[in-house]
Amino acid sequence: MSEILAAFTARTPGSASRHRRALAVMPGGDTRTTTYHPPYPLTMERGEGPYLFDVDGNRYLDLLGNYTSLVHGNAYPPIVEAVQRQAARGTAWPARNDQQLELAEALCERVDSVEQVRLCNSGTEATMLCAYLARAVTGRRKVAMARYGYHGSLEEFEVGFLGHDGPETVLARHGDVADFERLLDRHGHEVAAVILEPVMGSAGLSAAPPGALAAIAEATRAAGALFVLDEVITLRLSTGGAQRLHGVEPDLTAMGKIIGGGLPVGAVGGRAEYLAVTVPPAPRLVHSGTFNGNPVTAAAGLVSLRELTAERIDAMAVRAQRLDDALVEHAARLAIPFSTRRSGSLLQCFFSAVPPEANQVRVDHDLATSFHLAALNAGLFFAGRGLIALSTVLDDALLQDAIERFRSALDAVAGAHRPLLAAGAD
Ligand SMILES: Cc1ncc(COP(=O)(O)O)c(C=O)c1O
Repeated sequence: MSEILAAFTARTPGSASRHRRALAVMPGGDTRTTTYHPPYPLTMERGEGPYLFDVDGNRYLDLLGNYTSLVHGNAYPPIVEAVQRQAARGTAWPARNDQQLELAEALCERVDSVEQVRLCNSGTEATMLCAYLARAVTGRRKVAMARYGYHGSLEEFEVGFLGHDGPETVLARHGDVADFERLLDRHGHEVAAVILEPVMGSAGLSAAPPGALAAIAEATRAAGALFVLDEVITLRLSTGGAQRLHGVEPDLTAMGKIIGGGLPVGAVGGRAEYLAVTVPPAPRLVHSGTFNGNPVTAAAGLVSLRELTAERIDAMAVRAQRLDDALVEHAARLAIPFSTRRSGSLLQCFFSAVPPEANQVRVDHDLATSFHLAALNAGLFFAGRGLIALSTVLDDALLQDAIERFRSALDAVAGAHRPLLAAGAD
């Protein structure tokens, strides 16, 4: 490990000095819990297509796309052009604009369950609005979710992410129909909404089994609660989101990431009768936001959605499978305990012989930390927890380049951890 760490610090002095500066003005030197990794996170200077460049001039293949939101890579020219054109005409007004109207129309057209849309500025705001809408509709307070599910930074959801029930949060096992039925038998009369990720993003890409979401939706409605899907990450899995793949129509859908073309965004779509609690002039639920539906985000989001065709979604999934196979094969050759989970263009790496349960994904592991730093040294950027998200601008030649760089990163890990691996680490 020390060689990998030494190489990382030698090539990133500019990021190190900025980290020291940042520690003085931001707690922990950062402003996003997720982006921290040891010994310090990089400071980026610019992104261009499939690449990121740090302040020391190092180039990285971007295999994360700002945690899945930059589905067309960095500074995608059609999006840059749309943003520039709109920014020159104004950035936000306290009035409707045509771009927000078109984005709302595009979402209604794409996602089968979405009859109407409310726009906001982050995935967290979207899931929060889902909870508030469900409370306003049902007059109940509690939310039910999967243990270790991630729905953003609202307190009710954060306790569930950490694996605990809370005063207004009750939990069941992800994708486990019987466990959700038991939960609803017990708490159903107090539950406003069941909210689920079709594929758990932060908890290691664990997908709900076929049929499970539809069965849980049925139990949820039988209990008089709203069934909500959090598609902030999974909307990229088909042109109609993961819900189309699962054959389920939620009452509400939380969206974000790709629908803003790389700008801050969130949206809640769903049944008009439920969204009606926000209808002016005297709504039961006040939902406002200075930047909701601003035309710059909407213009960028429209391009992002328009260009995310079924063909491109399929091509990304094929490439992700090739990367998956190459990583598993090379790790096996080096006798490194390694496994993966994949959903479409998303790939999660684990340093264990089989993928762990959801609650173990975040456990620090020497091999995972070494791999992440060795991959950065090899010019590959992805999440410290092992999440990779491909973009449409990563073509076959770039994928081959990524595979070769990953092989050299795994070689470095094998070299640094020989005694550990010889002892049969898992
Ligand atoms: C499934 C899911 N829901 C909600 C959120 C919150 O979105 P945001 O970070 O835009 O607030 C995220 C963020 O990663 C997410 O993965």
